[in-house]
Amino acid sequence: MAITITIANEKGGVGKTTTAVNLAAGLALRLSQTEGPAGRVLLVDMDPQGHALLATAFGLPAVDAKKGLAALLTESPPPSVQVMIQRAEHHPNLFVVPSSRPSMVEAARLLPTLMANETRLSRALAPVVDQFAFIVVDTPPTTGDLLVNALVAADLVLIPVETSYLGVSGLRELQKTIDLVRLHFRPQLEILGYLPTLTEEQRSEAQEILVELKKRYPGLLLPPIHKSSDLAYAHSSHMDVFTYRPPRARRSDQIASSSRATQEYADLVERILARALPTASV
Ligand SMILES: Nc1ncnc2c1ncn2[C@@H]1O[C@H](COP(=O)(O)OP(=O)(O)OP(=O)(O)O)[C@@H](O)[C@H]1O
Ligand SMILES: [Mg+2]
Repeated sequence: MAITITIANEKGGVGKTTTAVNLAAGLALRLSQTEGPAGRVLLVDMDPQGHALLATAFGLPAVDAKKGLAALLTESPPPSVQVMIQRAEHHPNLFVVPSSRPSMVEAARLLPTLMANETRLSRALAPVVDQFAFIVVDTPPTTGDLLVNALVAADLVLIPVETSYLGVSGLRELQKTIDLVRLHFRPQLEILGYLPTLTEEQRSEAQEILVELKKRYPGLLLPPIHKSSDLAYAHSSHMDVFTYRPPRARRSDQIASSSRATQEYADLVERILARALPTASV
């Protein structure tokens, strides 16, 4: 049974998509020697607008609306997710549910008018949860049914936080949304952690925010992802950072290269594997 990790923060531009792409790619690389479902990762892009990275990062062709995520969310009964899933370009064990952006905008508009509007993603993914070790869900920078669906489908929420004063301002809203999802749908939903992103440690603002986050969220503050040109260039080259900056010799137990961005995302991958699969030796 897959562990579903939703990447959420209602603030825009904080590194959600970057984290979804690199976490999914990192998990896939680490699990690449594992046969069957325990070695497979699925990525779901719930963001209709955002900085369009996710589809392009994994070389997916455009799909028509009827064959994408929006149809899973809005049609009754939904089409089969099984036939929709596509393999990502750079990783044979990474799969993506494709989505077309205009149809996702329409889905966001339609969902509040539909029955069972909060649980549609969770139900649509149910037939394939046994086929993956991890499902990573990227979300839009808005409150609403797309975010709620992504939280209802999740076991763990990972919250990227830009290390700036503005970056921490909306976190209480998100906490309220998570509390409501727990209350009404998913009591077992847990916060995996707060992930400082775009961190520039030489700036006193970043230092102060890290101290503040540690105080506010004891035990939940993850090591930061620093601002890095490799992440920005990987993004503009439509790749995950592990593909953009690979190590000289690829080993599935050591996915990082000399690039700090790969080391930091690899560290996040290890933490998640240690938490999710404490007894497995991957
Ligand atoms: N650690 C980093 N270092 C450098 N650039 C980064 C880093 N993280 C993200 N970026 C860049 O910042 C921009 C915003 O990142 P991203 O698209 O991941 O944010 P987002 O939270 O998904 O945004 P949205 O809310 O609009 O979907 C992108 O251009 C991305 O390449
Ligand atoms: Mg995004």
